[in-house]
Amino acid sequence: MVTISEVKTGSPRENRTAAHTHIKGLGLRADGTAEKTSAGFVGQESAREACGIIVDLIKAKKMSGRAVLLAGGPGTGKTALALAISQELGTKVPFRPIVGSEIYSAEVKKTEALMENFRRAIGLRVKETKEVYEGEVTDLTPEEAENPLGGYGKTISHVIVGLKSGKGTKKLRLDPSIYESIQKERVTTGDVIYIEANTGAVKRVGRSDAYATEFDLEAEEYVPIPKGEVHKKKEIVQDVTLHDLDVANARPQGGQDIMSMMGQLMKPKKTEITDKLRAEINKVVEKYIDQGVAELVPGVLFIDEVHMLDIECFTYLNRALEAKIAPIVILASNRGICTIRGTTDISSAHGVPTDLLGRLLIVPTYPYDLTDIRTIVRIRAKTEGIDVEDAAIDRLATRGVGTSLRYALQLLTPAMILSRVAGRARIEVADVDECESLFIDAKRSAAIVERGGDAFLE
Ligand SMILES: Nc1ncnc2c1ncn2[C@@H]1O[C@H](COP(=O)(O)OP(=O)(O)O)[C@@H](O)[C@H]1O
Ligand SMILES: [Mg+2]
Repeated sequence: MVTISEVKTGSPRENRTAAHTHIKGLGLRADGTAEKTSAGFVGQESAREACGIIVDLIKAKKMSGRAVLLAGGPGTGKTALALAISQELGTKVPFRPIVGSEIYSAEVKKTEALMENFRRAIGLRVKETKEVYEGEVTDLTPEEAENPLGGYGKTISHVIVGLKSGKGTKKLRLDPSIYESIQKERVTTGDVIYIEANTGAVKRVGRSDAYATEFDLEAEEYVPIPKGEVHKKKEIVQDVTLHDLDVANARPQGGQDIMSMMGQLMKPKKTEITDKLRAEINKVVEKYIDQGVAELVPGVLFIDEVHMLDIECFTYLNRALEAKIAPIVILASNRGICTIRGTTDISSAHGVPTDLLGRLLIVPTYPYDLTDIRTIVRIRAKTEGIDVEDAAIDRLATRGVGTSLRYALQLLTPAMILSRVAGRARIEVADVDECESLFIDAKRSAAIVERGGDAFLE
């Protein structure tokens, strides 16, 4: 007996990307050239155009196993570019963002953590034609019977389900085990569902739109009554990642369905994702791809601050990129020449070893000029709902040129608080100046440390 449940791959990263909410895409024209300001993106035209080509290559599936490095100083828009790429790719292509330092933990080996993230970035689209009963539920009645084991309780012997579709109605007499999955999906009359004929899996599609006017405030998805007969063949498309398959097969009692096909092949009692399990899954996946049942969707693994990886991880990366099934890897680094972590004497550009560097497409990003910073500060202020007078925006932009775009953006919120304290609803130049005396930028901070070095601990 198989039940369907959805594998949730929600992102816990909302807060980390909040600084980029104004970025809606790369802002390119149809011919691939960048508009000066579009989709929240300002300037940095050649990097945006380069990223546009990468998006095209990914969509044409000509990029898997290749890697890109976004290289440039802090606050030059590397993370913003990567997120824009993910927006351009849409939700059907897996995009897995991590930060280099994230893979160091006490519980999991770092290469193991990398491997998991690789598999989260590889999608599989499975098309299956299934025999189903589909329609709006018109009737849902469990039939009770005396408990065959004696005793007082009654048991459910059957459940009667009435289904209505565009071309007719049908009454089905179903096994009690199916009643359990109906209850799990919280199906009530008026819902549109389908039941797989072979497995008995029940899937709730949504609420029939015939009921749509009943309540206004419901968080419901309304769907039309299915066309055609109740009993029919239906093509079901599901998008999963290899990691979803790993998890489902490691814990076979959990979510299933596409997993039903995987689960049938290997009914494992395993509770841990092992290399052996992954190898088995790869084999099955390859077979399904060959048979045309499944299609591989190589997604993107984005490793921000890649210079935080050590030599062992870089070696692993090199190898993983050569695997038969590999995602596209996008790296970002703000380092110049520096020592590779985990070594004492190997130094290399961007904190990435030369052998890996040699196989990367490198996209440089450059510092912004006054006009660009002014526009970006204005866009950010608008996104955050902060009112700033023009002169104050100019002051922030001027300071941004001397320090960094990020410093200018970071002053926005404290400046707003200072203006409120002063009883104003709009940020003025004085607020920016006061902010600057309270919060110093990196350069000034470094200068203080150098001058008064004795007061600090070594
Ligand atoms: N060209 C741009 N247009 C609009 N916003 C930008 C642009 N470049 C950077 N930003 C914004 O500036 C901030 C810093 O950029 P970020 O991408 O984090 O820099 P990096 O990753 O290179 O250090 C973020 O809030 C980002 O969204
Ligand atoms: Mg960044």
